[in-house]
Amino acid sequence: ILTSLNMKYQEIIASLPKKERWSGASYTYEYQGFWFSPFALEGIISVQQRFQAQPSDILLCSAPKTGTTWLKALAFAIVTRNRFDDDNNHPLFNAVPHDCVPFLEVDLVDPHENKKDPEIMPLLSTHLPFSSLPKSIVSRGCKMVYICRDPKDTFVSYWHYLRRALPGGQYDHVVERLSLEKELESFCDGSTYYGPYWDHVLGYWKASIKRPDSVLFLKYEDLKRDTVFYVRKLGEFMGRAFTAEEERRGAAERIVELCSLEKLSGLEVNKSGKHRQGTPMSSNNYSFFRRGIVGDWKNLLTPEMQRRIDEITEQKLRGSGFSFS
Ligand code: A3P
Repeated sequence: ILTSLNMKYQEIIASLPKKERWSGASYTYEYQGFWFSPFALEGIISVQQRFQAQPSDILLCSAPKTGTTWLKALAFAIVTRNRFDDDNNHPLFNAVPHDCVPFLEVDLVDPHENKKDPEIMPLLSTHLPFSSLPKSIVSRGCKMVYICRDPKDTFVSYWHYLRRALPGGQYDHVVERLSLEKELESFCDGSTYYGPYWDHVLGYWKASIKRPDSVLFLKYEDLKRDTVFYVRKLGEFMGRAFTAEEERRGAAERIVELCSLEKLSGLEVNKSGKHRQGTPMSSNNYSFFRRGIVGDWKNLLTPEMQRRIDEITEQKLRGSGFSFS
């Protein structure tokens, strides 16, 4: 059955508009108004047709390079804090945060595999735009946490990620030929994976206005400014509020510390090795952790590039009630 389904998905994908990426080393396909890699698309179409959410599932949603790794680490540490309160033995010490939370469109493609008990680990993650989520996620009232980030920092993070993630895999030959100008072009015309970025953000923004109890909308910059506040907020939103006793013990502060960039990026597991080795999504673990600062775009973008992104942001967000600042 799986083979014939895969063939069906391949047929759908072959019929979609596509663009070359990295001088023909890969393609990006337009599906339901967003752009995806062929590998992700198969999983996406499959979960749209077959994934059945449970009401207690909690989705961590984001566009790439907006703080996904951090959000996964924080949410995982919050929901499992009673099981892993011994800091020396914490799963985050031995696994990249991405391996602690199943990735919907990759790990849950086969409905019979990777089943977990949502009472123990209710978290799932996805890069899917809100409008393309499997229907049962919204109809069953699953909670969602969305994180977004200033588009200029998101683009700059993506640029560095490409150059750090790809070496040592099938895209080795692409790395030398990567061009900042071309990548900016793709980011601005919306054809980087899961783009257009602005539409991705607006989809979840509108959903959070319509269903504030179901969608918690976060900004990376806010999380940087007061991480403890947002860890408490995340705990409450996910139905795992910190108790007075936990507050006395500084449980929220300890989670912030455990999930800090300094702590995570210093761990052996995050310094070496590869994530999803042997798949088209393979990347070096260390590429998920870089500087983690607000405003790093100033170190890379020319004033012209900055203006270009700002103009699109201004035009896309006009009238939405949302702003990145
Ligand atoms: P920079 O490239 O600007 O440093 P994602 O996880 O969605 O791929 O996003 C990656 C960005 O989040 C990178 O930004 C990375 O450094 C930052 N990041 C990763 N872990 C973090 C953490 N624990 N705290 C803060 N930022 C983190």
